[in-house]
Amino acid sequence: MQIKKASVILSSGMAVPPKVLTNYDLEKMVDTSDEWIIERTGIKERHILDNNEVISTYAIEASKEALKRAGLQAKDIDLIICATLTPDYLMPSLSILIQNGLGAVKAGAFDLSATCSGFLYALCIGDQFVRNNPERKILIVGAEALSRKTNWQDRTTCVLFGDGAGAVIMTGQENHDRGIIDFILGADGSNSHLLTLKGGGSAYFPLDEKLPPEEYYIRMQGREVFKIATRVMEKIALELLERNNLKPEDLDLIIPHQANLRIIEYLRERLNLPKEKFFVNIDRYGNTSAASIPIALYEAEKEGKLQRGNLLLMVAFGGGFTYAGVLMRW
Ligand code: ACO
Repeated sequence: MQIKKASVILSSGMAVPPKVLTNYDLEKMVDTSDEWIIERTGIKERHILDNNEVISTYAIEASKEALKRAGLQAKDIDLIICATLTPDYLMPSLSILIQNGLGAVKAGAFDLSATCSGFLYALCIGDQFVRNNPERKILIVGAEALSRKTNWQDRTTCVLFGDGAGAVIMTGQENHDRGIIDFILGADGSNSHLLTLKGGGSAYFPLDEKLPPEEYYIRMQGREVFKIATRVMEKIALELLERNNLKPEDLDLIIPHQANLRIIEYLRERLNLPKEKFFVNIDRYGNTSAASIPIALYEAEKEGKLQRGNLLLMVAFGGGFTYAGVLMRW
């Protein structure tokens, strides 16, 4: 099949902080166990920033690798979109720190906030940006420092999250046999109270006494979020397949947002596909929110599980709630 105006991913890159926090480390911090965390989430360890580090360092490193693998220079980039919930600062944005760190002198740059779906949201915006001007080149980054917004005394959330960054370079191509075929972007604020991070927004003054200290960290009613996540991930996957006259078995690889292995397993069972068709690395990184899918993309390609011409489905779900699915020929 030829895609008339295709948007293709030229390359990817990733970077994570070297510091690793294992389940055994967490056992010393809260009332939990390696066994519980593996059984309920699939996570064994996660990378987290050291105290003196910032996530922009890793966002820039991931971007440099993507540029190098695409054979491009920073000055070739027209636009930088960084999906993040945890920028170094609210101003300047993380995308600006990347722009300056790379020396991407002709690029526009902005951050995008759509929680764990952020990278796929950014990919869809990038798709629109290059379709009618295939010469353009975009750097799309997903970077998170969730460890800085984690309440390390709350065992229901602190076992889940990790830090890291992934990046891709996207461009356009006419009449190509690969690229983005279709996507779904969605949001539903009716249950937003189930997953929140209130401190730091403008509803409250800094250190407002009206806001309890735990509201400066991610708070989640995990069981309820789990139910919504499983339902929504299945719905997006089936809708994208159906409207493109595809069956689950036509897919070569599914890269789901890595939030919980049981959510991924649920989707796999509903699509009735073998384990090999799902890329999973949650055991080593935990949930890195907007960085989760680009890190997985990079590793899937490096491990030879994602190859040129493969039919790829990416699905994500996150706080808000937001959700997204992208179907593409790699
Ligand atoms: N260690 C040991 N026990 C624990 C832990 C822990 N770390 N955490 C919770 N428990 C206990 C609970 O207190 C509860 O005990 P109780 O039965 O005595 O009350 C029991 O384990 C079961 O708790 P549940 O919350 O029902 O556990 P569940 O199986 O649902 O797993 C989890 C919790 C992992 C959080 C799961 O609900 C989940 O993954 N939810 C969805 C997360 C997600 O997808 N988030 C969206 C993206 S995040 C973002 O956008 C930033």
